[in-house]
Amino acid sequence: MKVLGLETSCDETGLAIFDSEQMGSDNQGLVGQVLYSQIELHALYGGVVPELASRDHIRKLVPLLNELLEQCDVKKSEIDAIAYTKGPGLIGALMTGALFGRSLAYGLGIPAIGVHHMEGHLLAPLMGAKPPAFPFVSLLVSGGHTQLIAAHGIGQYEILGESIDDAAGECFDKAAKMLGLPYPGGPNIAKLAENSDQNTYDLPRPMLHRGLDFSFSGMKTAVHNLIKDTDGSDSDPQVRADIAASFQHAMVDTLVKKCVKALKQVSMSRLVIAGGVSANTHLRETLEAELAKINATVHYAPPALCTDNGAMIAYAGFERLQAGQADDLAVSCIPRWPM
Ligand code: KG4
Ligand code: ZN
Repeated sequence: MKVLGLETSCDETGLAIFDSEQMGSDNQGLVGQVLYSQIELHALYGGVVPELASRDHIRKLVPLLNELLEQCDVKKSEIDAIAYTKGPGLIGALMTGALFGRSLAYGLGIPAIGVHHMEGHLLAPLMGAKPPAFPFVSLLVSGGHTQLIAAHGIGQYEILGESIDDAAGECFDKAAKMLGLPYPGGPNIAKLAENSDQNTYDLPRPMLHRGLDFSFSGMKTAVHNLIKDTDGSDSDPQVRADIAASFQHAMVDTLVKKCVKALKQVSMSRLVIAGGVSANTHLRETLEAELAKINATVHYAPPALCTDNGAMIAYAGFERLQAGQADDLAVSCIPRWPM
């Protein structure tokens, strides 16, 4: 089954073709993908402008689809189903992909399915070289979500803990902004943190010893105060780099300790990390080291499938279609949609 996946929930237009017959081969079923990032469009405003995002998705969907079909050497008539992101996300942006996908499926006489963006992230590591078996604990860390989930099977998700305020990615983005780094903040903080001392400043690890929930809103104030105290936003580049490294270390330390706690609580030995922040090298290395100590393993998607993309939507759609689900002709998106 060849599934076309469409991701338009925020500021990336991602399209991909997943072919279940190619699962287990080198490409793990991913025939090809194209991704257009609107980062430059929004950079001027310091964050994503919803109306501009919708307009840009509309402009890009058709040319990207043509590029993808050519790259994959697949004809439209060979596509068996279409999966699109139904939520959560920006309503206007979601509607562009949903209307495009639903209409194209109608025109081709094939099923369409709306997919939960976070389920896409959660299942993306199953497209990796070392796909984990169920059950596993998943740490979903993106710009909008921070959740620990016990995944017992497709669609069987139990939320173990989540952020009571800001998401981890959002916190990276805000700290980056305070340090004068462009959006998205995560990769820029990681880069600035290279070759700096992560133990220079002691930043808080909020709610570390309270259950499996997270709280990151206090980190913003802590970073703000630290920058003020050290004059670090515009003076010594080494001070800024040390702040970035200390911040990244505090975030990673908090995430890792909660993951270890979650695995112990549900007696599982596999951890999957997904979402944009899971691309963070320091997070990956620390998890590998800490989980080895408790005989647990960590699995993640290839870097290109950690941040938003069409491949994870195609794959999640395939799994849902396999389970007998498909949407009717009505197009509805869910901007706020719990897992
Ligand atoms: O999953 P994603 O692409 O989009 C959402 O669904 O939100 O995640 C984007 C988030 C941003 O906050 C970005 O700063 C963060 O992921 N991110 C990172 C890294 N790469 C992306 N955070 C830390 N380290 C990274 N290397
Ligand atoms: Zn995402």
